[in-house]
Amino acid sequence: MMRGANEIRSYPLRAEHAVARTLADSDDAGPMQSKLLAAIGEALGWPTGAIWEAPVAQDDPMCCVETWHVPGTDLEAFATITRGTRLVRGEGLPGRVWASAAPAWLADVGADSNFPRAAAAVRAGLHAAFCFPVRSGGRVLGAIEFFDRGWREPDEELLATMAILGGQIGQFVERRRAEQAVSDSEQLKRAMLDAALDAVVTIDEHSRIVDFNMAAERIFGCSREQVLGHDMAETIIPPWLRERHRLGLARYLRTGAGDVLDRRVEIVGMRADGAEFPVELTITRVDLPGAPRFTGFLRDITDRRRAETDLKASRARIVEAADAERRRIERNLHDGAQQRLVWVGYGLRTARQALDRDPSAAAEALDEAIAGLAQAGDELRELARGIHPAVLSEGGLEPALTILAERSVTLVELDLTPEERFPAAIETAAYFVVAEALTNVARHASAGRLNVSAKRVDGALVVEVADDGCGGADLGRGSGLRGLADRVSALSGTFAVTSVPGKGTIVRAEFPCG
Ligand SMILES: Nc1ncnc2c1ncn2[C@@H]1O[C@H](COP(=O)(O)OP(=O)(O)OP(=O)(O)O)[C@@H](O)[C@H]1O
Ligand SMILES: [Mg+2]
Repeated sequence: MMRGANEIRSYPLRAEHAVARTLADSDDAGPMQSKLLAAIGEALGWPTGAIWEAPVAQDDPMCCVETWHVPGTDLEAFATITRGTRLVRGEGLPGRVWASAAPAWLADVGADSNFPRAAAAVRAGLHAAFCFPVRSGGRVLGAIEFFDRGWREPDEELLATMAILGGQIGQFVERRRAEQAVSDSEQLKRAMLDAALDAVVTIDEHSRIVDFNMAAERIFGCSREQVLGHDMAETIIPPWLRERHRLGLARYLRTGAGDVLDRRVEIVGMRADGAEFPVELTITRVDLPGAPRFTGFLRDITDRRRAETDLKASRARIVEAADAERRRIERNLHDGAQQRLVWVGYGLRTARQALDRDPSAAAEALDEAIAGLAQAGDELRELARGIHPAVLSEGGLEPALTILAERSVTLVELDLTPEERFPAAIETAAYFVVAEALTNVARHASAGRLNVSAKRVDGALVVEVADDGCGGADLGRGSGLRGLADRVSALSGTFAVTSVPGKGTIVRAEFPCG
């Protein structure tokens, strides 16, 4: 293949232009490589070429990442062999260029002793070859090779041009890699932010929202697109708190002093529908140069607050119930045993005075004192039984519930796990559930039938009192059922009252006791 003198001068230039155009137009690494090979090959009139990538580790082989040949030619077999070839540093034409970091020219690959693909090249009718390094910042990223059908002596001008192009391509590849790394890390950051359970909201120094993750969309009820660029105060802060936010931000920007940065505070947030809710908030300043930006991490603590409020109320009720119980015992002691003992003391004094002068009166007073003591004993026993029935601690739930059932005015069907014992606190709570439920049936239900069951079900003690009375039981009306709910939940159990007017009532408590 012969070329005129002008053409010889112009074809490296054409290749340069073609490469510049390809790099400028390309937005994807894959097609860019094949376009680059085609651009150079067509500009130079060399029918086939390949791009090789040098590994980061010097001991690994380089491999071919792209081949190109003039369409419709019989060069596919050679391209296939090239794509399957691995070359260590210094081996073959690309390996040599990798090692020397300089372009190389072979007038006839078939006659070169360091060209592993020689036989395939000769079969394809290829002879001349040149190769130049793709370099960036002194490192060889890879090599680009081209083959021609004729024998050709080295063209120094062409090689010099290709060396320059190799530098440009290298810079381009490096820049593309850096961009890809940034884009990968952006995507990773987005995915991490979106996987977070807490709302993450970033604002600029004008309080405009610049980022809003998926949890924020969920918690505040508005989409990222809707809020980006909008004033954060107007978007997620209730009106009565906005001024405080604005003043705080302005003061921080002016003086660098802020009292909410880098610590957890509990404040109030606002959903898109205007509903206010408690949030836990941590604000940090984004540690990047440029205009200040702030990221807020927000957690909806509505459930936690509610649980805290419930817990406080339940504790207060337990304390109140214990106080009421103490008052009842005090009153019973005062009105009962204490009175008797006062009278016993009085009787004993009378007997002591009458002993010498009226022995029969003394004996009578002593008899009264003895009877009074017996009554005081009975009353104390009765009182103690009300606090904790002895039969429960001695025999467990079965005998204790049986005695409760026997006292009931309505006939009770009993369904009890025989003789099994549970932790004392659970037995006591279960006993009180049944006692209160039975009292309620007698007071409120007008029931015909009553069923009491206490059984172990899957590692839990389940106690149930069901009546067929008027229904309509309501935890809010008295203190009995609510007291039971507190007692049961204090033991990590669950308590439920199902009571439909006209359809009876079921009181159910479940105590985990695995
Ligand atoms: N088995 C039932 N059948 C129908 N109504 C019931 C039944 N149990 C309770 N109730 C209704 O639910 C209300 C609340 O019951 P709860 O035991 O909490 O209070 P109480 O029995 O009225 O008073 P106390 O505080 O002395 O127990 C009752 O006032 C009653 O109206
Ligand atoms: Mg009651």
